[in-house]
Amino acid sequence: MQLEKATLEILPAALRALEEGFASLPSIDARAPGQERMAEVMQQVAVRLRDNYPYFHPFYAGQMLKPPHPIARAAYALATWINPNNHALDGGRASSVMEKEAVAEIAAMFGWQTHLGHLSSGGTMANLEALWVAGQLHPGKKIAASAQAHYTHHRISSVLGLPFAELPCDPRGRMDTQALAERLAGGDIGCVVATLGTTGTGSIDPLAEILRLRAQHGFRLHVDAAYGGYFTLAGNLTAETRAAYDQIGQADSIVVDPHKHGLQPYGCGCVLFRDPSVGALYKHDSPYTYFTSSELHLGEISLECSRPGASAVALWATQKLLPLARGGQFAVGLEACREAAVSLAERLAADPRWLVPFLPELDIVVWAPRAASARLASERSQRIFAAAANRGLHLALIRLPVGYFPSLVSEPSDSQDTVLCLRSVLMKPEHREWVNRILTILDAAFQDAEKG
Ligand SMILES: Cc1ncc(COP(=O)(O)O)c(C=O)c1O
Repeated sequence: MQLEKATLEILPAALRALEEGFASLPSIDARAPGQERMAEVMQQVAVRLRDNYPYFHPFYAGQMLKPPHPIARAAYALATWINPNNHALDGGRASSVMEKEAVAEIAAMFGWQTHLGHLSSGGTMANLEALWVAGQLHPGKKIAASAQAHYTHHRISSVLGLPFAELPCDPRGRMDTQALAERLAGGDIGCVVATLGTTGTGSIDPLAEILRLRAQHGFRLHVDAAYGGYFTLAGNLTAETRAAYDQIGQADSIVVDPHKHGLQPYGCGCVLFRDPSVGALYKHDSPYTYFTSSELHLGEISLECSRPGASAVALWATQKLLPLARGGQFAVGLEACREAAVSLAERLAADPRWLVPFLPELDIVVWAPRAASARLASERSQRIFAAAANRGLHLALIRLPVGYFPSLVSEPSDSQDTVLCLRSVLMKPEHREWVNRILTILDAAFQDAEKG
């Protein structure tokens, strides 16, 4: 079996239970136009969907992609029979309450008993809201983020009309806080984005030092933990990484994406603010909505209007099944992902054919084939990547500064200051048991690439 099907068994009973809630209504003809051809069209859909990498399988070890937990899939599907809209309580009463509960559980995971927050379509929109708030509070001042921060921060700053400062990284892909201190002396930085779990390498910016600088300079601190946030529950982080997570609650805002490590279907990011009073910045009037209840409508504290209530329902159900608790089943899954990554990285580091710039902090591994120059290593990476895919192992590629690899010299004729590396996000707990098989294919791919 490749694809989980338990979802299909639990849906009918849930659907009947949902329908019972509306039993007092006069009956309607619930058939839909074209219903008789639905099965035929669905067959076509299934065939079209085959044109995908197998994100559900451990041999997909490339980008941050995997299917949601079956409970999320089932709850999302069930909610679409109602299709609630969490813009306002008018459109999604139950799902808005479920969103508030689920988001409060995420805030509590970071130690926040009070907060303001909501779900969004993803990490980009969630970060946009955090930087929009920062811009409202420090108008015209710069947003600063590291060179390894997600590129979205630079783009969002431009959308918001705010200047942006890129800070260099150390050879472990972490923000260079000495460079930050120098930039802060200019007095024009209003917000610093610290990334806990960079997209490329899973690196953790030095939060303690950034907090020390905040105490001195008074900037707003936003933590982008879109990918890495849930790892705060993992019990097997290094002491240094653990210390950073233990301080995350001191940030002014945090972004975490349930659609990355939170087992959710796409369309689920989350932004949190430590001080609920920033809600006043969102104040607006709507002639169309917010009239069914004097309770808070989520659209009153978010920039997006219509949003799928189904996302909140799926997240709520997932967190009921797998609470966000250290030592719980969900946390154990994250620990397995990190174990898989450390194990793969250690095995590669022990093999003279490979260069591993640093061990993974979370579950992303980056490595390059040893070669006489950065250019030759890059070409080799590209060939190995293709050869692995031919053998059914799907990896990713990343361009990293050549300075991350002290032993990799640039040829005199080589203008490259980056090297193309292999990258693997081992974000399925099953990956832990598949490291040997992944290495076997990688070994064969290396040889294929050598033969040309
Ligand atoms: C750290 C980080 N921030 C932001 C984003 C953007 O999130 P999304 O793709 O959900 O918009 C990503 C995506 O990988 C990310 O890893």
